[in-house]
Amino acid sequence: MDIVLFPDPRLRAKNAPVEVFDQELADLSRAMFEVMYRTSGVGLAAPQVGVNRRLLVYNPEGEPTQPEGEAVLCNPKILWKAKEQESEEEGCLSFPEVNAKVLRPLAVSIEAQDLGGKTFTLNLDGWESRIFLHEFDHLDGILFIDRFSPSDKSRVRPILRDLEADFKQTLADS
Ligand code: CO
Repeated sequence: MDIVLFPDPRLRAKNAPVEVFDQELADLSRAMFEVMYRTSGVGLAAPQVGVNRRLLVYNPEGEPTQPEGEAVLCNPKILWKAKEQESEEEGCLSFPEVNAKVLRPLAVSIEAQDLGGKTFTLNLDGWESRIFLHEFDHLDGILFIDRFSPSDKSRVRPILRDLEADFKQTLADS
């Protein structure tokens, strides 16, 4: 399993709800954690591994030795967002070398289903809320570059051009 890089169209494609809660889904989420840890990430959405389904995983600890931080969310919904927002630096596994500040709500209440299809709610704040909101955006085909300030958009444009050139080359080679 590999990370899908910008500008692969699967990052912008529509993501279907998870409807079957079976072993395949559990295996997929486990494989996503493995790729996430291998690439030093703290969160990963299914479209980033080329699976256009509404599934995301994260672990704010970013360490397989701390599995108590792991969360698997199927079909997440935002029930409430804090009005207060904060701007913090983010990266994304689909955008190597790209980092910039992104403005996001400080806290959220969410509802999601677990790997058995059971619905649960969570109140998130701080770093965990930010990770969730970044990954949740992926499920709607929204990428963090969409939320960059105009000056950061200009700053990262050369890196995005390089990623676009690499993607074209990969297509030409395949
Ligand atoms: Co991302």
